[in-house]
Amino acid sequence: MKYSFKIIIGLLVFISIYSCGAKTNQTAIKPNENKSTVIQSDLDRKVDSLLGLMTLREKIGQMNQYTGFRDFTGPVNKASDEESKTQDIRDGLVGSMLNVRGVKNVRAVQRIAVEETRLGIPLIFGFDVIHGYQTMAPIPLAESASWDMEAIENSSRLAAKEAAAAGLNWTFAPMVDISRDARWGRVMEGAGEDPYLGSLIAKARVKGFQGDDLSNRFTIAACAKHFAAYGFSESGREYNTVDIGTSTLYNVVLPPFKAAVDAGARTFMSSFNDLNGIPASANYFLFRDILKDKWNFEGFVVSDWASIKEMINHNYAPDDIAAARLSVNAGIDMDMESYVYLDYLEQLVEDGTVSMATIDDAVKRILKVKFELGLFEDPYRYCSEEDEAKVIDSNEIKEGALDMALKSIVLLKNEGDLLPLKRDQKIAVLGDLAFDKNSVLGNWRLGAIDNTAVSLQEGLSTYSKGNFNFERGPAFVTSKAEFSQELIYNKTDTTGTKAALDAAKNADVVIMLLGEHGLQSGEARSRTDLGLPGVQQQFLEQVYAVNQNIVLVLTNGRPLALPWAKKNIPAIVEAWQLGSQSGHAIAQVLHGDFNPSGKLPMSFPFDVGQVPIYYNHKNTGRPKDYNEGTVFNSHYQDAPNEPLWPFGFGLSYTTFEYDQIEINDNFSVDGTITVTAQIKNVGDRKGTEVAQLYIQDEFATTIRPVRELKGFKKIELEAGESQNISFILTSNELGFFDNQGNWLLEDGNFNVWVGGSSQANLKQSFMLKQ
Ligand code: NOJ
Repeated sequence: MKYSFKIIIGLLVFISIYSCGAKTNQTAIKPNENKSTVIQSDLDRKVDSLLGLMTLREKIGQMNQYTGFRDFTGPVNKASDEESKTQDIRDGLVGSMLNVRGVKNVRAVQRIAVEETRLGIPLIFGFDVIHGYQTMAPIPLAESASWDMEAIENSSRLAAKEAAAAGLNWTFAPMVDISRDARWGRVMEGAGEDPYLGSLIAKARVKGFQGDDLSNRFTIAACAKHFAAYGFSESGREYNTVDIGTSTLYNVVLPPFKAAVDAGARTFMSSFNDLNGIPASANYFLFRDILKDKWNFEGFVVSDWASIKEMINHNYAPDDIAAARLSVNAGIDMDMESYVYLDYLEQLVEDGTVSMATIDDAVKRILKVKFELGLFEDPYRYCSEEDEAKVIDSNEIKEGALDMALKSIVLLKNEGDLLPLKRDQKIAVLGDLAFDKNSVLGNWRLGAIDNTAVSLQEGLSTYSKGNFNFERGPAFVTSKAEFSQELIYNKTDTTGTKAALDAAKNADVVIMLLGEHGLQSGEARSRTDLGLPGVQQQFLEQVYAVNQNIVLVLTNGRPLALPWAKKNIPAIVEAWQLGSQSGHAIAQVLHGDFNPSGKLPMSFPFDVGQVPIYYNHKNTGRPKDYNEGTVFNSHYQDAPNEPLWPFGFGLSYTTFEYDQIEINDNFSVDGTITVTAQIKNVGDRKGTEVAQLYIQDEFATTIRPVRELKGFKKIELEAGESQNISFILTSNELGFFDNQGNWLLEDGNFNVWVGGSSQANLKQSFMLKQ
């Protein structure tokens, strides 16, 4: 069998000799030609040569992905034991594995593919490196609150580095699904509700994972997921159907995916949902018309876990063979855990319902990414025990996680400057979660080690500037939190409350850490109630009755609806699930050693009944201020229309003021409009503000939202300092997609706002004339 490895090595030697000649020629003939185009064509030649050696069965093998032998991130579909999977790898019937991790494991499996198959084609190893591999950075929604593209890119770079050190070369991230529905548990994994911010974050994450050179040993291939519209699952219920109009599809859902393609994302994943009656995993329009043709995507597409086979449950594909045919023809190149490509593609090619050209195209895409990762040069490139020991949980990665955690925290309320904490205050720290070292690792934490996060108790104790008294209060989660089980929340047991109330009575300030368990958001963790689970709301009110000086620190994977807390609690800090360094980051913010600068990437509802709630909605014919004093306008009888906290909102320990908005209207001359404004730090300490620019295209042939984010700048200002900021608007920011997907830029009046949130009121207007 070693002989087969020799065939491929021989082949590669031949190819590389061939390629060198080609490279010299092309460079000489076309001096201006972009170098990557030249490399690309060399690569295509290598891929074609290899493809020419493959049997149909081997080609189909490349299109087949199995999960590893122990870890499952979806339902187990087929009783396939380690032995039969290993035999399939040996027979050249597997192109990729997911959930095999750790250098020793990866090497053992790669060795079978490379040394025991006929052609020795290496496997690509995928894993959900969503916000870290073993060292956890904040959950993606939290990172997005930083509005800091450099920090986000760095966080993905470090996640890639740690994962690559563990033998992995492909992450199923970033998730770029826009969502307006906090009931959907996976909002924790995305960038929130806005397509402009979401597109920039998609780009930063792809760049972070992949770097500039995929063959670099510490970069890994990214996967933009889930194509498309998964974030619009009806009622926020996981895996539910999606029915959205084309305006929302083109203007809200697709832009972050396009940004991921433009940033060079090498792979895409199809989503579980159907979109307007056609499952994404058989959606020709999405994958062929848009992704591969219109956007010219050159990487490959993997299905989501069993999503091909699940089209039978969708009442779309009558059986497995139809499912395989529909998916492959729609452009899904690799089957994750449905087992139907392996079982049926050969037959489908033989009966002519799937063309050989379709198979070849899919295989070429997959092989190309393997070449780009350098796996043909060295299939064990990612397998170094030395790197694994050196990189995983190294100081560089821990420091990156802390930096990201600090930048992710959002200050929601700070009445009477209760924060930062003052020296010599007697402080009670309450809440079961304050002791928890697990929850803040989030849901995507298969590679993390349980109970390794810095808890709030540990974080504050390390500071030891204060006089802390820690009490758990009532228990939070009462069942053992298992990945696959529902969590059981304590709804009745108030043992622990008394000791906590005693501590609160004797304190100057009470810090309460309340919120959700890490496994309460994420995949398959939808909720209908967006309040504090269990007895936490009751506990909060009990403590408030004995001491009102409460700093409520929230830990959660989604926006929560907490109107009582907003009304009554003087200080509220949104600390999400901040990952391994959580306790240290929160302690620094509470003490004022880091001045919070995060801004919400998603609206926080006043009540779950308002959901979906988002700032960039359209106006109605009878908006809320229409016909005031009568009932005939768009409103609720029992709740405001406005969110509890709007998109883009976040305070600082200092205060910023905006003034002097001006517009230089010369679009017809050079195709740009410049908006300037002045921002001033009017407080008494240094701080960082995210200045945001919103526009409204007032009248258009397709109704445009009341506001749309089209620019932002993160600025640090000393106390008393002011700065002029400017934003440039071009047709990219001012145009929109019509319902046929055409990009339009229409003349007319545009309103512009600059300020610190989506409710900014510093306004100007201009007329666009082309
Ligand atoms: C299902 C999830 O939807 C997807 O995001 C993930 O990457 C795969 N499982 C693999 O774990």
